[in-house]
Amino acid sequence: NTALTKRYIFERRFTNARRPCQRMYVFQYAADLSRYTSMAPHTSVGFVPTMGALHAGHLALIRRAVAAGDLATASIFVNPTQFNDPEDLRKYPRTPEADVSILAKAGCHAVLMPSVEEVYPAGGQSYEFSFGHLETVMEGAFRPGHFKGVAQVVARLLDMVRPQRLYMGQKDFQQTAIVAEMLRQLNSSTQLIVAETVRETDGLAMSSRNVRLSPEFRAAAPVIYQCLLDAKRLYPEMDAAAITARAMQKMESAGLRPEYFEIVDGRTLLPVGNPRQADFVVACTAAWAGDVRLIDNVVLRAAG
Ligand code: PAF
Repeated sequence: NTALTKRYIFERRFTNARRPCQRMYVFQYAADLSRYTSMAPHTSVGFVPTMGALHAGHLALIRRAVAAGDLATASIFVNPTQFNDPEDLRKYPRTPEADVSILAKAGCHAVLMPSVEEVYPAGGQSYEFSFGHLETVMEGAFRPGHFKGVAQVVARLLDMVRPQRLYMGQKDFQQTAIVAEMLRQLNSSTQLIVAETVRETDGLAMSSRNVRLSPEFRAAAPVIYQCLLDAKRLYPEMDAAAITARAMQKMESAGLRPEYFEIVDGRTLLPVGNPRQADFVVACTAAWAGDVRLIDNVVLRAAG
C-alpha cells in the first residue's frame, strides 16, 4: 500500500520455509502502523515494547506472539522519561539497524520506531498513575521516578499500537507488576503475557546492558543468578534475612556492588520474613558490575 509511509521493508528470507516472502514493515508514525494493522488478516495484535539493543530475550517474545497467531508488532524507543540518571540514558546502547534485521528474522510483522515528539506530542494526553509501594520499593527506591516513566510510555505505546496482547519479560519483574497494575487502572482489555527470562549459558540474564560489561565483569556477573538459585535452594530452611545477607556477601566477594537482594511477595512486592509462609515468593536483586547496573529475579514459590 503506497499510502503507507514505510521507511524500509525487510524480507524474511530464511526463517520460515512456509512463508519465505513475509515482509516486515518499519513505521515512524503510529497512524501508518494503525492503517497497516487494520488491513492485516490477523484477528489479534501482539505487541513487544523495547528500547532496542535487542537480544534473544526480545526475540523469544516476538516468537511467542507469532506462535499465538498474533500480528507481531514491536516498538523501538529509548524512553527518556524512565531514566533517572542522564548518564545512563546517554550510555544506553543504540543499534537500530541490527535491531530491525533481528526482528525481521524472528518473524515480526511490523515495528514502530517513533520520535520523542510522536510519543509525547505537545498538548497530548498525559497519564498520571499512582502505584503506591509497587513503585517505591526495590528498583523504585534506587531509581526514583523510573516506574512513572515506564507506565507513561507503555500507556502511550498501547494507545498507538492498540494490541490485544502485550508481551514482556520476567527479568523486569517489578516492571511487569507495575504494567499489570497500570492495565487494571486503565480498565484495559489488553492481556499482559509475562515470558520467562532468557539466559546466557552461564546463567546471566539476557539484557541490553550486557554488551557494556568489561570482560572482567562479564566473567563475574553470573554470580547474580547463582545467588538467586542459592535462595531457591535455601528458603525452605532459612529465613529471608539470612539468605539476603549471604547473597549480598557472595556478590561483593565476586567484585560486584549489590544494591539490594530482597525476598518479596510476588503480588505486593513487600518483603516476606519467612518465605515458607507466602504462596507466591520472588527473590529480586540489583547489582553494579563496574559501571553497568544489572537486575535479575527468580521465583522461589509460584502462585498456586
Ligand atoms: O523494558 C524495557 O525495555 C522498557 O522499560 C519498556 C517496557 C520498553 C518501556 O520503555
